Amino acid sequence: MENKLREIQLRVMQSIEEARQSANLEQIRVSILGKKGELTGLLRGMGKLPPEERPKMGQLVNDVRAAIEEKLEARAAELKEKEKAARLESEAIDVTLPGPERGAGSLHPMNIALQKMIEIFVGMGYEAVEGPEVEFDHYNFELLNIPKNHPARDAQDTFYVDDNIVLRTHTSPVQARIMTTRKPPIRVICPGRVYRADEADATHSPVFHQMEGLVIDENITMGDLKGTLDEFARQMFGEGIRTRFRPSFFPFTEPSAEVDLTCANCRGEGCRMCKGTGWIEVLGAGMVNPRVLEMCGIDSTKYSGFAFGMGVERMALLKYNIPNLRYLYENDLRFLTQYR
Ligand code: DAH
Repeated sequence: MENKLREIQLRVMQSIEEARQSANLEQIRVSILGKKGELTGLLRGMGKLPPEERPKMGQLVNDVRAAIEEKLEARAAELKEKEKAARLESEAIDVTLPGPERGAGSLHPMNIALQKMIEIFVGMGYEAVEGPEVEFDHYNFELLNIPKNHPARDAQDTFYVDDNIVLRTHTSPVQARIMTTRKPPIRVICPGRVYRADEADATHSPVFHQMEGLVIDENITMGDLKGTLDEFARQMFGEGIRTRFRPSFFPFTEPSAEVDLTCANCRGEGCRMCKGTGWIEVLGAGMVNPRVLEMCGIDSTKYSGFAFGMGVERMALLKYNIPNLRYLYENDLRFLTQYR
């Protein structure tokens, strides 16, 4: 019996050592120490031994049992550690993996140009004001000295909402709104969206943006207008960019001028962009027509003023050398994200 016990101990110790999972250890425990286990069976057979051998054998069985239990426990602890380590490894998250990319947005080039334009005039003491895009004929035309049936209305290709309401064709109605509600001195810019019934092409769109400027005070002259636009040109396009005034006509200004800038592409030398002239036409301007001042309730014997209106998209095209207006509307991110 003693040999049998030793044999069991050796074999069991070996198989405990070889167990790879906690569950295997439990099987081993049951098959040896359980109710129908091998060792339990031996213990039951003790009755058949001569009485004088029983204590010695009993002691031996207990020793073997204790040794096996101890080994089971030790191995169980080892396997538990291993299993935990394996579980942690399989559940591990690689915190260094790059996340899903969310590209940063960028400003639209038209907005970059507009912000720059606003910044320049605010720096010169102007206040930026806004007016409605759906406008009364009264402000869009009448108060600007463009009465019904005036040929200048044709030039504006107006979208009519009804007889008295239009989608504003320029930002000039905002000057009329300001003049009728404020007293001089007035110094404002009016950026915003305008509408014209034009076919879209490389230089036209039915929706575009303008920025109007208006200054009214005592003793305002054409020289102030010229100096202001020269400073604007310098800040917007760089040193050496000047303005040139050509006589023109607008019903709301007298005298009126079309204003050119030195071609930023050739710096005035003459190139394809400026058709060899060295100048690029960019805006309309003039001294506010005294008739307009009077219609808006401003004393034209005391006050004078200048006004100008420029296309924002046009400024963006010039600033960034963009050849076609359509690029600004097609929303191709490959194009748009170049400008930041
Ligand atoms: N309103 C004109 C247009 O849309 C632009 C303009 C010209 C505005 C002369 C002015 C100005 O304020 O004085 O074409």
